[in-house]
Amino acid sequence: MTVRIAIAGKGGSGKTTISALLCRVLIENGLKPLLAVDADPNSCLPDYLGLPVSRTIGEMREQLREDPSSVPVGVSKQEWIEQLIHEDLTEAPGLDMLVMGQQEGPGCYCYINNVLRDCIAEISGHYRAMVIDNEAGLEHLSRRTNGMVDIMLVACPPNIIGARTAGRVIDMIKRLKLEVGRTFLVLNPCDRPPEPAVAETFAATGIEIVAGIPTDPALGAFDVQGRPLMELPEDSTALNAVRDLVALFRKRRWL
Ligand SMILES: Nc1ncnc2c1ncn2[C@@H]1O[C@H](COP(=O)(O)OP(=O)(O)OP(=O)(O)O)[C@@H](O)[C@H]1O
Ligand SMILES: [Mg+2]
Repeated sequence: MTVRIAIAGKGGSGKTTISALLCRVLIENGLKPLLAVDADPNSCLPDYLGLPVSRTIGEMREQLREDPSSVPVGVSKQEWIEQLIHEDLTEAPGLDMLVMGQQEGPGCYCYINNVLRDCIAEISGHYRAMVIDNEAGLEHLSRRTNGMVDIMLVACPPNIIGARTAGRVIDMIKRLKLEVGRTFLVLNPCDRPPEPAVAETFAATGIEIVAGIPTDPALGAFDVQGRPLMELPEDSTALNAVRDLVALFRKRRWL
């Protein structure tokens, strides 16, 4: 069974950091092979994971749209797209990665997007777990990649603005009718319990806070050096907070 986890939330709230650390910790816990999906057009997940990008799904979609005759005779478009997606996967031990790339330009992409969504759903079924890093901004929570998610983590800072943004993301998830099993809040960076007024605003969302990720100076140093988070030292406080989160989900038998 594939466990699909998506990370959404405020800009700069640590979505990509949490996504990369989740990939590392899920693999540590034996949830592999794992599929990491970078659904942010301003793609950063490959750098955080230390993986190269061959071709993005967006580039593949454009090529297919510009030259529909490239579909070989006797092969259905669905089968062909599935094959192309396989070619676009970056493969690493225990981990494959798909990069969605740029959103579509003008023109009709409905058909191809529907096929893409079905193909990604089909391909993800071959993995034990899937982690989707989303772009900031609510309207982008696309059904193409976030359809059928078991766990949605909404990252935000532990302040009033963060709590309000989290509330709007949660409303948007409902409005878009995304098929999300469970939604949780992850506070980042979080070094102390939120002030009472902030805690109240979070409580009003009705969503459980499952983790608070401390400020980790190692993350800043890795960012400056462009080092992948797979190399973060064992005593990294952020890494260990994500380990606690995964342990909690395992205890609740969701992973
Ligand atoms: N707990 C933390 N401690 C210290 N630095 C952190 C922490 N979490 C994230 N950062 C840093 O904050 C910056 C933004 O993090 P990240 O890119 O993961 O956020 P994001 O939500 O994905 O941003 P965007 O909205 O641009 O996609 C990065 O420099 C990252 O190293
Ligand atoms: Mg990001």
